[in-house]
Amino acid sequence: MLNHPEKIWHNGKFIAWDDATLHVMAHVVHYGSSVFEGIRCYALPSGPAIFRAQDHMQRLLDSAKIYRIDVDLTRDELVNAMVELVAVNKTWPCYIRPIVLRGYGQLGVNPFSSPTEIYIANYSWGKYLGSDAEQGVDVCVSSWNRMAPNTLPAMAKAGANYMNSQLIKMEAIMNGYVEGIALDVSGYVSEGSGENLFVVRNGVIYTAPLGNSVLAGITRDSVIKLARDVGIEVVEQMIPREMLYIADEVFFSGTAAEITPIRSIDKISVNKGVTGPITKKMIKEFYGIINGTAPDRFNWFTKVPVKNAQPVSV
Ligand SMILES: Cc1ncc(COP(=O)(O)O)c(C=O)c1O
Repeated sequence: MLNHPEKIWHNGKFIAWDDATLHVMAHVVHYGSSVFEGIRCYALPSGPAIFRAQDHMQRLLDSAKIYRIDVDLTRDELVNAMVELVAVNKTWPCYIRPIVLRGYGQLGVNPFSSPTEIYIANYSWGKYLGSDAEQGVDVCVSSWNRMAPNTLPAMAKAGANYMNSQLIKMEAIMNGYVEGIALDVSGYVSEGSGENLFVVRNGVIYTAPLGNSVLAGITRDSVIKLARDVGIEVVEQMIPREMLYIADEVFFSGTAAEITPIRSIDKISVNKGVTGPITKKMIKEFYGIINGTAPDRFNWFTKVPVKNAQPVSV
């Protein structure tokens, strides 16, 4: 059970955490019809602030649009709801989980007669890939591929996609790895079960383009912007599997994983297991912003107005 705060936002109202329940016959339970986001609110020295709030809520609306789920709220209304929730729950730093789902209506596959339910929850949360993930994680290439194009759309952050992610993650864990890297249906590098992937070789950062079945990660975008801003070349191109084994550096990015160095892939060490200089530079740049020690020069933060802004986790 989660150590949770008091309230959850549901369709415009705050409700008690324990009242945020769903009927077992809701469409989403049977057919995976949900789209969601994962967002972090950081404890900056100036108080709580949500990282790239607008971009996450825009991706939520985009995911809903791909699946023809009507959301009668604007991006900014969703952002405001999330800001209010963090303030009401007085819980930060925290992870924020907005979800749009097809609720309890008809039980056929046709989703159009099921009502849309929107929830936003938040809770305190630590490191995703383990507390010693900064030292680098040991990963494998998964035997599972990412979804093929024109099957489940990878650009939509949909609940159903995470059945594929679960296969990747379970296989990795059962074999003693922290995470799996999935290839796309053509055998090119795609992404982790819940992270985008970056490969460094000869001073250039490479990452798979959106066409290789990757989620358009907000952290991926932040890494690309930061790297270019500090003069590191970033190339979005198809990456053959073997490039993973001869890379100078490899790292994951994601809201949960933030920037996590990879120290071995399929038991082949990356840079002798030591975090390399470009990964270190990206960590310094990224963590500088999210810790509030460097200026927010891209205006990535939305402040949560609260009195007595001490970090309060539950
Ligand atoms: C499959 C997948 N890829 C990539 C990411 C990273 O995306 P973001 O940086 O927006 O969290 C996530 C996390 O949401 C994910 O689940």
